[in-house]
Amino acid sequence: MTLARLDVDGFRCLEKVQLELDPSYNLFVGPNASGKTSLLEAGFFLGRGRSFRTRRLDRLVRTHQESFRVVGRVRYEGVETVLGVGGDRKSTEIRIGGSPAASAALLSAHFAPQIIDPEIHKLLEEGPHRRRRFLDWGVFHVEPQLLEVWHRYHRALRQRNAALKPQTDPSAASVWDTELMSAGERLDALRRRYLERLAPTLSEFGQRLLGLPVSLAYQSGWLADMSLSEALARSADRDRRYGLTHIGPHRADISVRVSGQLAKERVSRGQQKLLAAALTLAQLAVQEEVAPGRGALLLDDPAAELDQQSLGRLLDLVSELSVQLFVTALRADLPGLGQPGAVFHVEQGRITPAASGA
Ligand SMILES: Nc1ncnc2c1ncn2[C@@H]1O[C@H](COP(=O)(O)OP(=O)(O)OP(=O)(O)O)[C@@H](O)[C@H]1O
Ligand SMILES: [Mg+2]
Repeated sequence: MTLARLDVDGFRCLEKVQLELDPSYNLFVGPNASGKTSLLEAGFFLGRGRSFRTRRLDRLVRTHQESFRVVGRVRYEGVETVLGVGGDRKSTEIRIGGSPAASAALLSAHFAPQIIDPEIHKLLEEGPHRRRRFLDWGVFHVEPQLLEVWHRYHRALRQRNAALKPQTDPSAASVWDTELMSAGERLDALRRRYLERLAPTLSEFGQRLLGLPVSLAYQSGWLADMSLSEALARSADRDRRYGLTHIGPHRADISVRVSGQLAKERVSRGQQKLLAAALTLAQLAVQEEVAPGRGALLLDDPAAELDQQSLGRLLDLVSELSVQLFVTALRADLPGLGQPGAVFHVEQGRITPAASGA
């Protein structure tokens, strides 16, 4: 897969953008607040149907405009597909090959970008929600049935939680237990299988980026050594008292350890960025093993927070993954990734190709 062309209209600060892209390495250079991250955000939206910076659509629509549109032409094994995402301040629309698509997840069968940006440390630092989303995105690319199982589980969970509210019949919640357990055990098994693939790659990448032993562990969302049904039975009184399902795959998490200690308690901000980058790159590498040619990497200001040696290690690893790259930088002399196939200047929301390759 290659994103060959990208058209953006009405997105953030960007003026109408029409770009012919390089299949390997695109570098976007410009000063602060010129629109570099906004461009990557538009590219991310094209593959994910959401932003990595905000959940609020009104933030994405350009001031004084009603809506935005991002259209990309992707090429894969000689076939070209047009992807289109658009939104106003309230809702989004997704089109694949000209037809409306039911789910944003379908975009990623054509274009599956990963992002490493200066906020990536939040993956380790913040609560488990981000990590679960990260985990499930990875699982989905290896095990596409994840999508259906995930929806089944969350539907059962919503219904069970509604039935646990005080004024409802006490037996109503247990009607959902069978479905919750069946979808929940399945979701858990898919995640575990994926983690077995991801963990060794993370250890390798972590060691390369930090020079320290890195390990990954999974917490299922209920007590280890217990089945989901046993854990649900044990939690039943508490669930009823608080009107909420306390345990299950919706409470799952992953934890990263460096030299045996929890990363968020031990490492510096720069190391946190490297670790989160190692996780993201490990996910991209696994994704490429299973479905080669769909991945792309958006690398936003990679030099931020990193010393020369760490930056060099990160860019070395990135260059080995052989996915299409979209990199932003304040200056054009970013070392480590070789010569870009295309360089673009970003200035006050306008993006123009540089005269020649560098
Ligand atoms: N909806 C919007 N409409 C118009 N402008 C916007 C909108 N949202 C953000 N902006 C502006 O877009 C500008 C560019 O933001 P962006 O984050 O893309 O810059 P950047 O080039 O990545 O800068 P930096 O190097 O500091 O990271 C900012 O000045 C921001 O205020
Ligand atoms: Mg930026």
